[in-house]
Amino acid sequence: MTVFSNRITKLFNIDYPIIQAGMIWASGWRLASAVSNAGGLGLIGSGSMYPDVLSEHIRKCKSATIRPFGVNVPLLYPDIDKHIQIVIDEGVKIVFTSAGNPKTWTNVLKEKGITVVHVVSSSKFARKAEEAGCDAVVAEGFEAGGHNGREETTTMVLTPAVVNAVKIPVIAAGGIAMGRQMLAAMVMGAEGVQSGSRFVASEEASSHPEFKKKVIDSQEGDTVLTMKQLTPVRLMKNKFYAEIQEAEWKGATPEQLKTLLGRARAKKGMFEGNLAEGELEIGQVSSLLDDILPAGVIVKNMWSEFSEALTNPVKIL
Ligand SMILES: Cc1cc2nc3c(=O)[nH]c(=O)nc-3n(C[C@H](O)[C@H](O)[C@H](O)COP(=O)(O)O)c2cc1C
Repeated sequence: MTVFSNRITKLFNIDYPIIQAGMIWASGWRLASAVSNAGGLGLIGSGSMYPDVLSEHIRKCKSATIRPFGVNVPLLYPDIDKHIQIVIDEGVKIVFTSAGNPKTWTNVLKEKGITVVHVVSSSKFARKAEEAGCDAVVAEGFEAGGHNGREETTTMVLTPAVVNAVKIPVIAAGGIAMGRQMLAAMVMGAEGVQSGSRFVASEEASSHPEFKKKVIDSQEGDTVLTMKQLTPVRLMKNKFYAEIQEAEWKGATPEQLKTLLGRARAKKGMFEGNLAEGELEIGQVSSLLDDILPAGVIVKNMWSEFSEALTNPVKIL
């Protein structure tokens, strides 16, 4: 395996610049610790956790790995101040914030010596994250699963745009599941990658087995970025999506869409395995996946493919 060092491996003290995304209903302590133990950076996704559940996951992660791990904190979460207090009290060293203004919490976390990374979907937001004092940014492109930017900027365009806009290191996300994609992102100036969908299809993800199966069976065109009036999200097309689409065609207001979305749709789909009625967040790259693997194997595969591609990046016939 290639020995590798750059600003991202140094920032997090990890072997490979591979970050497993924080994901609701998928990334608990089992997944995060497996990725960290394999030399990447595992993130606990706090967005689907009540404060006491988050504490439990952090404690279990600490006892499952001695390697660095982090917590993803979506800033729009209703109990955000409780979550921030928990990560501080539990001595978490790395926090990835998303879905909100980095100005509000970055200083609070930095004062406690926590490394803060913010997820952005444009170079304008990347500059704001840098101004707020973040240590790095995740540039998350249009292909990505889950909540996403309105502007539909693809990873291929967003990565160099954000790299040009800020001095802090950039982690590329959206559509990256294998080593050659990782190399492409790093050729464009990213210093690390964040993968979400690939790790949904892992043994340690807490996602429902039926959802995992649907992910690896999916084809190109099976996902779509929807609900742009509310909070844009990339999900898998299903009965629930058809209802959303019909409501949008009929000119539904954001309030009507909110009612249709209801409560716990994401839990119903991704955690409880109701593939028709639930919300199934996943990225375009799911169409390239065909196996459910241990998370550590995903990290090793990605790294060995990256290393191989690095020695022979372009096919010459
Ligand atoms: C099932 C799922 C849940 C997600 N939940 C969150 C979340 O809670 N917080 C967040 O910042 N991003 C979330 N995301 C986005 C990921 O953090 C990541 O940026 C994205 O998955 C990268 O794109 P990829 O899916 O193409 O790898 C989620 C993505 C998926 C697939």
